[in-house]
Amino acid sequence: MQVANTKEHIANLILDLRKTNTSIGFVPTMGALHEGHLSLINKALQENEVVFVSIFVNPTQFENKKDLKNYPRTLNRDIELLKTVSKTRIFVYAPSVEDIYIKNVRSIRFNFDGLENEMEGEFRDGHFDGVGTIVKRLFEIITPDKAYFGEKDFQQLQIIRKLVEKNNLPVKIIGCKIHREPSGLAMSSRNERLSPEHKAASPFIYKTLQAAKKKFGTKSATKITAWVKKQFENNELLVLEYFIIADTDTLKPVKRKSHLKKYRAFIAVHAGEIRLIDNIALN
Ligand code: PAF
Repeated sequence: MQVANTKEHIANLILDLRKTNTSIGFVPTMGALHEGHLSLINKALQENEVVFVSIFVNPTQFENKKDLKNYPRTLNRDIELLKTVSKTRIFVYAPSVEDIYIKNVRSIRFNFDGLENEMEGEFRDGHFDGVGTIVKRLFEIITPDKAYFGEKDFQQLQIIRKLVEKNNLPVKIIGCKIHREPSGLAMSSRNERLSPEHKAASPFIYKTLQAAKKKFGTKSATKITAWVKKQFENNELLVLEYFIIADTDTLKPVKRKSHLKKYRAFIAVHAGEIRLIDNIALN
C-alpha cells in the first residue's frame, strides 16, 4: 500500500492515475479508523477504481485544545487495518501539519449561508471554518471525482455540500448512512475514550432518538424536545447539551411542521469528558 506524507508525492500519484483515466474516490478522516470509516471506504471502492484515504488530525477544527491533544492518533494501526481492505486500490495521505498549512495554521472564514451557525456551530466556535479549510485544501490536493462523508456528522455533510456548490468544486459529495455499534451507539473515534460506565450508558442516546421519531407523527417539536430534556434530567451519566428538531436542508429548528419538508432530530451529549453527537431522520 502506498502511503504518502507530502502533497508532492500525492501529485505524482494522481498524475499517473489520471494518465489512465482512473476514477478516484476520497474518504477524508482524522484516523483512529473504525468500522464506520471502513463502510465509507468500501462504498468508495465499489464506486471508484481507487480510493484515497487521508489521515490527518486537523488542528484548526478543534475549539478545545484538550480535545485536540487527546484525540486518538493510531497511524500504524490504521494503515494495517486499511491493508486488510485492499493493498492495491487504497492510497493513504498522512501529512504533517506543515505539509497542509505551511507556516500559517489558520482557518479561512467561510459563509455557508447560515448552516454554520446552527447546532455544532453554536457550541463549537470556529469549528466549521476549520472543517471547510481542511476539506477544501484536501480536495485541491487529491482532486477526487467523488468524496464520501458519514451522516453522523450531518451538519458537516450539508456544509461540505455548500462548500462545493459555492466554490464550484468539481467533486461529487456522497452522504453515507450512520454506522452503529450493536448497542445502537453511533460509531466514532471518540467512543474508544469512553469510560466503561459511560459506554454502558451511551445506547440511551439512540434509544431516545428512536422514541422521539415515534412521537414525531403525533406530537409537536416543542413537546418532543421537552420530553427528551426530561429523559436526560433523569440520567445520571449523560448530560444533554442540545436536542433540536430541524429542517434537513436549512438546519433551522422547526417552528411548524410541513409535510413538504424533511426533518431530522439532532443531539449532543456529554458522557463524562467525551462529547457525543448523533441524529435521526424523522420523516
Ligand atoms: O469528519 C471528520 O473526521 C473530519 O471533520 C474531516 C472531514 C476528516 C475533516 O478533518
